Amino acid sequence: GPPLSVVRRECMTRKTARLKVFRFDPEKDKRHRFQRFDVPVSPGLTVLGALIYIQEHLDGSLAFRSACRAGICGSCAMSINGGYRLACETQIASLSSPVIVRPLGHLRIVKDLFLDMEPFFEKYRAIKPYLIPGDTPGERERLQSPEQRAKLDRLIDCILCASCHASCPLTVTDEKYLGPA
Ligand code: FES
Repeated sequence: GPPLSVVRRECMTRKTARLKVFRFDPEKDKRHRFQRFDVPVSPGLTVLGALIYIQEHLDGSLAFRSACRAGICGSCAMSINGGYRLACETQIASLSSPVIVRPLGHLRIVKDLFLDMEPFFEKYRAIKPYLIPGDTPGERERLQSPEQRAKLDRLIDCILCASCHASCPLTVTDEKYLGPA
């Protein structure tokens, strides 16, 4: 095929972006299918923006999850052209066409890109991922030094998008494994 830079330039100059979106309703469908949508491209259009456009203008039955649209809440992780990414942080112009959108793996599909996240959060809750004070809380705030806070930095950066859970073969083969998150 053409070099990636050419594909990218074409994608950016196109007036519409073509998406092939995974569709599956376990209550009605025997198997999944990919549905084609052409979405008008506006500057800065993200994959999430395109999905919202589809839901509002082309097919209101498309199911997916999102909230912040700013890479903070972790709700919109999905497979985009074969890699797990946040749909709200992925510019359509940076992708080759057609854009293939699938749900994260290893989680039960409720509908289309909308998954049952409970097994992921059940394991997360099990490790009690919060600070547990050694004494009874009083009326005063608990002061934390910059050094103490620095120890938490990396852990706090995780936005619980479940992409690591979906990428890890052990999460499906070993029920007791708490998962990479
Ligand atoms: Fe919140 Fe994408 S919608 S991270």
